[in-house]
Amino acid sequence: MTPRSMTIGPRGPLYGVVRVPGDKSISHRALMFAALAVGESRVTGLLEGEDVLATAAALRAMGASIERIAPGEWVIHGVGVGGLLQPGQALDMGNSGTSTRLLMGLVASHPIQATFVGDASLSRRPMARVIEPLSRMGADITAAPGGTLPLTVRGMCPAVPIEYTLPVASAQVKSAVLLAGLNTPGVTRVIEPVATRDHSERMLRGLGAELTVEETSGGRMIALTGEAELKPQHIVVPGDPSSAAFWTVAAIITQGSRLWLENVGMNPTRAGIFRALGLMGADMVLHDRGTVGGEPVAQVTVMNDNLAAIDLPAEIVPSMIDEFPILFVAAAFAHGTSMLRGLEELRFKESDRIGTMATALAAIGAQVEELPDGLVIHGSSGRPLPGGVTVETRLDHRIAMAMAVAALNCEAPIVLDDASPVATSYPDFFTTLDQLTEEGRAINEAYA
Ligand code: S3P
Repeated sequence: MTPRSMTIGPRGPLYGVVRVPGDKSISHRALMFAALAVGESRVTGLLEGEDVLATAAALRAMGASIERIAPGEWVIHGVGVGGLLQPGQALDMGNSGTSTRLLMGLVASHPIQATFVGDASLSRRPMARVIEPLSRMGADITAAPGGTLPLTVRGMCPAVPIEYTLPVASAQVKSAVLLAGLNTPGVTRVIEPVATRDHSERMLRGLGAELTVEETSGGRMIALTGEAELKPQHIVVPGDPSSAAFWTVAAIITQGSRLWLENVGMNPTRAGIFRALGLMGADMVLHDRGTVGGEPVAQVTVMNDNLAAIDLPAEIVPSMIDEFPILFVAAAFAHGTSMLRGLEELRFKESDRIGTMATALAAIGAQVEELPDGLVIHGSSGRPLPGGVTVETRLDHRIAMAMAVAALNCEAPIVLDDASPVATSYPDFFTTLDQLTEEGRAINEAYA
């Protein structure tokens, strides 16, 4: 990816209807599970970001036929559980942790070997958390020092079913073990003391796998019966709440804005950002609730409003893990001091999201204190921040989008040193930003 700097000046209001792109987590899983079904599956609303395209390319390299027939519309001919072929070359995972960890799980119980490589950000991220349970199942995994990429997985077939209690709350680790369990005889069990996103469980059930979920004293226990047979399906992907979160906060903090966000995923394991913004007093209504592809969705109507600071309740954290960069921006413009703690895991994302956001927000003039497990942010009480600097996005799409939203509300433009990572999850983000501010300008002029 060639770095691309971008300057964003103060702008607004934002006005209009947004249909956010397909959910990234669900798009990865839709391709992987369809690639393991026998026969033809169709996916509608697939996110065509670089991360998901990396998953598609890897699955093709392992024998699945995956074809785009129209925007968001894909047809997959799966190879069946157990049918993955050894890829001819290293699998390039780009920036995508989800592709890497979930595909490692798939390879672990197939009689093949695969090498995973990635960009500088991904090559720093910890993989020991998946290496450990997959090795217990019998896979032989060699990684770079520190348990990072590049790494090679030599699968074990048949693998050994395990019962695994997650030491870190991670949907990626949970899914890696379950995916390895698909081609493992017997019952593979994962116990999660803290509930994480459950898209894998919902979709595997939808495709006919024998999977049960039970609340136990140790947490949620997911049991998957292996040597599963997955039935081909038409999978419809709902809109990504993580992408919707940028527009929700942009509308709230940018004067005169009003947005209608359609088809937003509202899975309770993902929708924590809307709860947090509600606690901050945002003017936001969730309505037209429904179901898309076995996942709850809603429309979000949101307008500019004052935000109060928040002392974030610990129980919201697991359901809004990717939305902290934009919540930090919301807190930087709120009235009062926000306490955002218990977030140690954010240091292991595409960048160290606590450190990167602390540096970026301080650079544009916000009052921020960095703690080992989070940030204390003294809000500007709705006043614009100075801006007028270059901020580092550190190969992290969500930092770039969060700081772009902050830039709308600064006195002087912000330069993003590299906006190219946005293409991993939201290729149309900047075009949509232009459209919404253009509509906002037109509405303002019409009513002036
Ligand atoms: C994801 C899980 C989360 C999240 C990531 C996508 C997934 O990571 O941050 O963007 O699709 O399972 P962890 O499960 O490692 O916290």
